[in-house]
Amino acid sequence: MCGIVGYIGKKNGAIPVIDGLKRLEYRGYDSWGIAAKDSGRIDFHKQVGKIGAFELAKDLPEFSGNICIGHTRWATHGGVTEANSHPHFSCDNKIAVVHNGIIENYQELRKNLEAKGHKFRSQTDTEIIPHLIEEKLKEKHNLPSAVRLALKDLEGSYAVGVISQDDDILIGARKGSPLVLGIGNGEFFLGSDVPAFLKYTNKVIFLDENQMAILDQKNQSYKIMDVNTNKQLNPEIATIEWSLDEAEKGGHPHFMIKEMLEQPYVIEKTISVEANELKKAASMIKSAERIYIVACGTAMHAGMYGAYIFALRNNLIVQTISAGEFPYFEHLISTNDLIITVSQSGETADVLEAVRSAHRSGAKVLSLVNVMGSSLMRMSDMFLLTKAGPEICVLSTKAYVSQQAMFVMLSATLAGDITAGKKILQIAKNDIAKILKLMSLDKIKKLAREIATVPNIYAIGRGVNYPSALEGCLKIKEVSYIHAEGFAGGDLKHGPISLIEPGVPVLAFVANDGSDKEILSNAMEVKARGARVIGISFENNQVFDEYFPVAANGVYTPISAIVYTQLIAYFIALEKKLDPDKPRNLAKSVTVK
Ligand code: G6P
Repeated sequence: MCGIVGYIGKKNGAIPVIDGLKRLEYRGYDSWGIAAKDSGRIDFHKQVGKIGAFELAKDLPEFSGNICIGHTRWATHGGVTEANSHPHFSCDNKIAVVHNGIIENYQELRKNLEAKGHKFRSQTDTEIIPHLIEEKLKEKHNLPSAVRLALKDLEGSYAVGVISQDDDILIGARKGSPLVLGIGNGEFFLGSDVPAFLKYTNKVIFLDENQMAILDQKNQSYKIMDVNTNKQLNPEIATIEWSLDEAEKGGHPHFMIKEMLEQPYVIEKTISVEANELKKAASMIKSAERIYIVACGTAMHAGMYGAYIFALRNNLIVQTISAGEFPYFEHLISTNDLIITVSQSGETADVLEAVRSAHRSGAKVLSLVNVMGSSLMRMSDMFLLTKAGPEICVLSTKAYVSQQAMFVMLSATLAGDITAGKKILQIAKNDIAKILKLMSLDKIKKLAREIATVPNIYAIGRGVNYPSALEGCLKIKEVSYIHAEGFAGGDLKHGPISLIEPGVPVLAFVANDGSDKEILSNAMEVKARGARVIGISFENNQVFDEYFPVAANGVYTPISAIVYTQLIAYFIALEKKLDPDKPRNLAKSVTVK
């Protein structure tokens, strides 16, 4: 949900800022904009559409400034127009602001500011921020105080970058939306995420809630302040271990394919997760009275898979709840409960809200999270890092596999046999490597070509493969815009079977976990009504019109089976000439509720 970048130093800041925006485009790509301060003047440029093909040297050669901010937008308040794109300015155009988040009391603030004579040029909530700062400056505050006081008036969430025509500083602050400070050699960076500036430095400070960074160009120094108390803080500088290569496409045409290809390596990382960490997490699970898994989207499907594994392997009843629905269960949560959250980004607003609500009820929170330093990581009582590495494609692929793998390791730890978990994952890893080698085989591409024009695709699975059916269809719909829906095999006869028409593709996930007979009968039922049955199964069957083999890995079969649907989704997108990394209307990290 919007990405922000900032630079202060001796270079032309527009270069790293444009570069950073390109890397943050996964957070939103409706429109973008930059503002830079050069010898006392703020220059800006805004554009509707993706920043992808923009080249500073060619498209805007004159644009430069040592203090620069930029923004890539995912519209919430106000349509996708140049006027609504960031940066936004004060009336006198001396203050420029980029913002990620939602200001909940903006209407009231805007009314007050308009009453004082402020003129607004957009429909955004963000625009009140530069006007508020302008108002505080009129009260004779210096820029840091004016920004701090303005921020205190805001309700909702923000990560902001602020520059002023009259000051040689860059200010960044956050509450509820992520912001990372990069510390370079005589220069500083701000980014919604580390890859925004990883090319320039791997020394970072993850700003915490209500923290404000004041970055000074002349003294080449930084100060971190608490917005509420105005006290100076001394947060730790972390070193990022991700290489730039990991965050870049590495010669592949899209992040999606690059990230899918990394999946065997990602499982390897999960296999090597610290036993002590697993044991600590397992003891939290053991001592909990009730356990809920709370997550969104793909992460929720991984959570559903985890719940099946806990039930089947550990005799644990675990309920999975979509984070957005969690508030309706909050009154039932109590001190002895455990909330397990799953999130790639660690910044999904609904998940963070669920954590706050869990803590309000006294429950403990254990998180499976991929981004080091993320809000979720810091808010949790304990976290397990899924170590999938940076996932840039809006569609989650390798993070899903790593989350499933982490649930397997947790389940094995609970059963007192970590080695068994490692063996299972080794089978899954080898199987994924095999599937990805088959990738170039024309079979998947041919299927993608043939089904790229159908209006509907369905998937069926039972037990551990029910989440596979949901996730497989989520991948297809996200990237190809084909209506795709997953069902539990047993539910078909309760309604969905009426949708089956001759020729409709139905993906059938079959595992050697004791559910194979039932799911194959369901496949027969749809086949009898003319469906084209695509089997993703441990063994071939005459009901399949096409067959994609997976290793016979019992209840762990879904870890590798899902890779086929990722590939099918990817190749359908290519067939339809769609950008698999940036599907319409979606954002990778949904930091609004
Ligand atoms: C968005 C993305 C999904 C993702 C979900 C949860 O909806 O489009 O791909 O699965 O957020 O994200 P998280 O970062 O919490 O895993």
